[in-house]
Amino acid sequence: MKQKVLIIGSSNTDMVVKTELFPKPGETVLGGTFLMNPGGKGANQAVAAARLGADVRFVAKTGNDIFGKQAREGFAKEGIDIRFVSESPDLASGVALITVNAQGQNEIVVASGANMDLHPADIPDEAFKQAGLALFQLEIPAQTVQWALAKCARQQVRAILNPAPAMRLGPEFLRDLYLITPNETETELMTGIAVVSEEALQKAAQYFFAQGVQNVIVTLGSKGIYLASENFTGIIPAPVVEAVDSTAAGDVFNGALLKALADGETLERASHFACRAAAISVTRMGAQSSAPYQHELDSFQEHA
Ligand code: RIB
Repeated sequence: MKQKVLIIGSSNTDMVVKTELFPKPGETVLGGTFLMNPGGKGANQAVAAARLGADVRFVAKTGNDIFGKQAREGFAKEGIDIRFVSESPDLASGVALITVNAQGQNEIVVASGANMDLHPADIPDEAFKQAGLALFQLEIPAQTVQWALAKCARQQVRAILNPAPAMRLGPEFLRDLYLITPNETETELMTGIAVVSEEALQKAAQYFFAQGVQNVIVTLGSKGIYLASENFTGIIPAPVVEAVDSTAAGDVFNGALLKALADGETLERASHFACRAAAISVTRMGAQSSAPYQHELDSFQEHA
C-alpha cells in the first residue's frame, strides 16, 4: 500500500550562472545566461517525489516576500500538501547563489534566511499524521531536525536523513534512523573514513550501524551509490549520461528513493529507480526544473 511521505526542510530560490571555469579567489570571469530557479534541498526532494507520484506533505518556512509566494505557488502546482509551510515575519526567503562549470559540477552558497527560523513550534503534531516515511536534510536548524527525528521514532515513522550540507552530528541524530544517505564528503566528515574503496565504504557503513542506523546509502556521483542493507550490500552503478548540471542530483535521488520506498519497494529496487531519476536530472539545468516525471523514467535510455 502507498504510504504518505513527510519532508521537513529548506526552500530556496536559486540564482544560477553557467561558467567555463570556476573563478579563483579574487578573480572575475564572464559567465553564461543567468537563470532563476526554485531550489532548496528540502523543496527539491519534495518536488522530485511528487512528480513521481508520491503523496507528499512538505514542511518549511519562507519569508513574507515574492520568492516565498512563488515557492508556495510552485509546490501547490506539484500537488504537494503545504498546509504546514509557514512564513517568517522578519526574515527573507532562502536564496542560493550557484555557479555551474562546463563539466556540470557546481559551487553553491546559501543565504538561509527564513529556513533557519523553522522551529519545532512551527510544526504541529498533525504534520506527522499518517506519514509512513519522513525525509530530512540539514538546511534548517539542526535542533529542529533532532526534535523531528525523535518524534518520528516515538510515532514509528521510518526516518531518512540526507545529511547535507556536511555537518558533524552527535549520536542522537543517528540512533533511530531507518536510513542515512550521505555523499562521499559527508561520509568522510561524519565517520572520519575517506571513501577511497569498497572496503572503506563497508567500514563507513559499519560506523553508522554501530550508531544505530539500520541502512546506509553513500551516494557516489556518476559512479552510482553504495547500499548496505539487510538484503543487499554493494555498489549500484548509475546510468551513463552526458552531465549538463549536477545541481540537485542528490535531492532527486533522495526524493525518488522515498517515493519507491513509500510504494513498498525494497531498498535495492528503490535505489535502482532513484539512480535512474538522478541520472535524468543531471542531463538538464536547474534543481526542481531537472526533476523527472514518471513517464520520462519509463522512456529513459542511458548512453551506451
Ligand atoms: O542540492 C541543491 C540545492 O542546494 C540547491 O537547489 C540550493 O538551493 C541548495 O539548497
